[in-house]
Amino acid sequence: MYRSEMTDQHPVAVANAWWRGAVVYECHLPSLRDGNGDGIGDLEGLIDSLDYLSGTLGVDAVWTGPFFRSPLLDQGFDVSDYTAVEPVFGTLETFDRLIVEAHARRIKIIVDYIPSHTSDQHPWFTDSRSSRASSKRDWYVWRDPKPDGGVPNNWTSEAGGSVWEYDAGTAQYYLHSHLKEQPDLDWRNPEVREAMFDVLRFWLGRGADGVRIDVAHMLMKDPELRDNPVAPAGGSNPFDLQHPDFGTQLHLYDRRHPDTHQVMTQIRAVVDEYPGAVTIAEIEAMPWSDWADYYGANLTGMHLPFPFRLIETAWRADLLRTELEALYTALPTGAWPIVALGNHDRTRLATRLGPAQSRVAAVLLLTLGATPCLLYGDELGMEDQPVPAERQRDYFAIATGGVSRDPTRTPFPWSNDVNAGFSPAEEARLWLPTAHNAAEINVETQLADLTSSLSLYRALIRLRSSSAALRHGDTTFTPGTSSDAVIAYERRTEDDHKAIALNLADAPAAVDLPVRGVVLLSTTGHTRDTGRTVELAPNEAVVIDVEEGGHHHEDH
Ligand code: NOJ
Ligand code: CA
Repeated sequence: MYRSEMTDQHPVAVANAWWRGAVVYECHLPSLRDGNGDGIGDLEGLIDSLDYLSGTLGVDAVWTGPFFRSPLLDQGFDVSDYTAVEPVFGTLETFDRLIVEAHARRIKIIVDYIPSHTSDQHPWFTDSRSSRASSKRDWYVWRDPKPDGGVPNNWTSEAGGSVWEYDAGTAQYYLHSHLKEQPDLDWRNPEVREAMFDVLRFWLGRGADGVRIDVAHMLMKDPELRDNPVAPAGGSNPFDLQHPDFGTQLHLYDRRHPDTHQVMTQIRAVVDEYPGAVTIAEIEAMPWSDWADYYGANLTGMHLPFPFRLIETAWRADLLRTELEALYTALPTGAWPIVALGNHDRTRLATRLGPAQSRVAAVLLLTLGATPCLLYGDELGMEDQPVPAERQRDYFAIATGGVSRDPTRTPFPWSNDVNAGFSPAEEARLWLPTAHNAAEINVETQLADLTSSLSLYRALIRLRSSSAALRHGDTTFTPGTSSDAVIAYERRTEDDHKAIALNLADAPAAVDLPVRGVVLLSTTGHTRDTGRTVELAPNEAVVIDVEEGGHHHEDH
């Protein structure tokens, strides 16, 4: 039994926090909805989407994606002004209106916080690179060339190649963990920290309900900048879309320095100045015990460290069950997890799993004892859409030959209208082309079809919000299920008890549960009574209302 209940040490504020029961929707601003007809999604378009998000779908929070002033080489993760809205996305006034309109619909707004690097166009960096004597010089990481003129160490960038870029004007190299247009800030410099804490205060003070912290595990590096060891062959994860250069070494010294946790605690303290605000920290796939460390001593670190291990695990019942059990074993007492099965940096769920298992994945995502984070379009079963070279946006591919993430990020299909209802602009002006199958996979079509992916997500989210066990209950995995293809678990609170069984195979499976009850929801639509042995159709996942002492909980 894995308990998520509170102990005396944990403040009630966290125990009852809104984000524990919430469903989070990751929207990708340029691709959600174009509000002004220029072909690019924007804050106005997000405001126009709120009725769909709250009313139709029923999510509780939106993670917006970056909308700050940016050259947009990395989809806005290259910020040139942290406290201004990129004009393509709107204005501060639009942001303020977004907060008002979202809150009026009980939707929380989580904004991106991108502390590890700026754009090379940020005035801090232009100042820093202008002279070795600049007062901003040590806001970034500058180093002399090696005696032979070479790079200061062997670290490789997530975007490919070295993390070092030579600046001829000042004859030193600067560090960039991603594109060369994204210089890393030096978080060991107290001035940098203070400036970046003020960025948090700016957005939380304007009404944001929390932050999603970009690459939180990368804020602190080895102060001696030691070389990374070479990676053993065959260790790379096929689900990780990093540039191949990145996987040639073990990233021991360029990230996850123990001092990172001090910074997490400091960030958390600033966020705590705004009661209720949540911190979701992006951290890479790492052992679950290391993931758990991001909660901090006595939970003074991140509220929700965002793990990648589930996204990067092959879709097999045994492997997933092992990961999930390890997650709950590692979870600190009083802590609560966030889970995602898709993300804007990875292959889409429906492309990875196919349509039938995507439905099983939906049940897993929305019935685990965790805050689900759903990537925009996954509720429709949107697939990756190859993007022709001349239309690509992702500089990780365009400039450095990495894998393009554009296929995951194509426009959200609203309807059968022109450009799938995403934008009235001329097709060639769209941020990215719409999917080839947008005529079948869109909101309007799927709303009219009770068997659609969207209808399944709506039913799951509704079931989740009406069930205390699904929102808050403990998670207990059912041991020794009779089939290797099945994952089964129970969720329960005092008055509510649900059992969930997922068949990850394209063949029938039977599973013995310690309980009996009524199938309230099935991916096949087949609701029924079940005995202790549940017969599952191929690719079927079910949520069962457990009969307690001869009664279903609703009968009490
Ligand atoms: C992680 C973000 O999710 C990704 O999209 C971005 O390219 C890198 N961080 C750099 O900010
Ligand atoms: Ca627009």
